[in-house]
Amino acid sequence: MGKNIILVGFMGTGKSVTGRIVANQLEREFIDMDSLIEERAGKKISEIFADEGEAHFRSLERALVQELSAREDLVIATGGGIVLNPDNISDFSKTGVVICLHADPDTILKRVAKDSHRPLLEGDDDKIKAIRALLAKRDKLYQAIPLQIETSNHTARETAQEVVALYLGQTRF
Ligand code: S3P
Repeated sequence: MGKNIILVGFMGTGKSVTGRIVANQLEREFIDMDSLIEERAGKKISEIFADEGEAHFRSLERALVQELSAREDLVIATGGGIVLNPDNISDFSKTGVVICLHADPDTILKRVAKDSHRPLLEGDDDKIKAIRALLAKRDKLYQAIPLQIETSNHTARETAQEVVALYLGQTRF
């Protein structure tokens, strides 16, 4: 039985793509929280935000954190706002190793430009400004995670290697 690996970080830091590679390498189950929330709700995150509001989405996220932290051997990609509730990080840390991925605003912009499932950045013509503002607001919360990886100039495969190395370093003894 092994501790969960939980990837946190801002939108576009590569949590989902990296998590999938790590799960494959370690032959573990991969859970993408946003996808699971969408699957269970039967609608897209942007529709949940529009129909029920952000607070409702955060309560779905919170319930899923409680459910997943009761399990083992998972690789979990969280949504970027998971750090907003400190209970989420403290619950995940009890049964897993939490790792924060970072990227600079320009890299984030490039990575999120193509998708439309990020309601917090939608409808904003000046996306780089929106990214910078939200990053500034949340920076302290991301920096508070002890294990950090910079992903800006790395492929997902390289980041996945770093995740595995950090995880093994934490669980060896
Ligand atoms: C959010 C990030 C999104 C998604 C939702 C809210 C956030 O996930 O959970 O749109 O508050 O940063 P990604 O980080 O996977 O884009």
